[in-house]
Amino acid sequence: MEDQIIKEILVTEDQIKKRVKELGEQITKDYQGKEPVVVGILKGAVVFLSDLIRELKIPIHIDFMAVSSYGKSSMSTGEVRIIKDLDFSVEGKDIIIVEDIIDTGLTLGYLKELLNKRGAKSVKICTLLDKPERRKVDIDVDYKGFIIPDEFIIGYGLDFNEKYRNYSFVAALKEEYYK
Ligand code: PRP
Ligand code: MN
Ligand code: MG
Repeated sequence: MEDQIIKEILVTEDQIKKRVKELGEQITKDYQGKEPVVVGILKGAVVFLSDLIRELKIPIHIDFMAVSSYGKSSMSTGEVRIIKDLDFSVEGKDIIIVEDIIDTGLTLGYLKELLNKRGAKSVKICTLLDKPERRKVDIDVDYKGFIIPDEFIIGYGLDFNEKYRNYSFVAALKEEYYK
C-alpha cells in the first residue's frame, strides 16, 4: 500500500541510523563543556530530533518552535509565520536548530536571524536533508545528513498533506500525487 505512492527510496533506515550516529558524535565533540539548547522545528524535525538527541553525550536542553512557510500546498509562498514560539529565552545560549530538510532556505534563514537578534551566543544548524537545487537564501549548514535531489520528499518526519511522517526511510513521492 505504501509502495503505491513511492517513486524511489532515497535514504534507507540503515543509512539514516548510521548518519545520525555520526552527526551525534560530531556535535558531542564540538560542544564539549557546553550545554546547548536543541531547537526542533515542528513538525518535520521531530523524528530526526528524537533520534539525534540520544546520540548526544552532553547535557542539552530541548525546545520547539512551529513555523509555517508552506501551509498545505507543496509550493513555497516565501512567508514564514511563527505558530508556536520557544518556551525559554535564548539569550546567552548556544543554540542548535534541528530541521528535517532545507529547501529554499527561507525557514532557516529567518529563524537563524531571529535567534541571533534575540541574543543567542551562537546559532548552528543541523539538518538531516539538504536540497540545494531549490535554495533561494544562502544558509551556512553546520551539520548535514544527506544531499537529496529536487523531488517531493516524504518520510522520517517529512509529510505530504500531513501524512507519511512516520515512515522510517526517506522517499520520493510519485509525481502524479502532487502535480
Ligand atoms: C518544511 C520542512 C522545513 C521547511 C523547509 O516544513 O520541514 O521546515 O519546510 O523549507 P524551506 O527551506 O523552503 O523553508 P513545513 O512548512 O512543510 O512544515 P512541517 O514541518 O510541519 O511539515
Ligand atoms: Mn518543517
Ligand atoms: Mg510539511
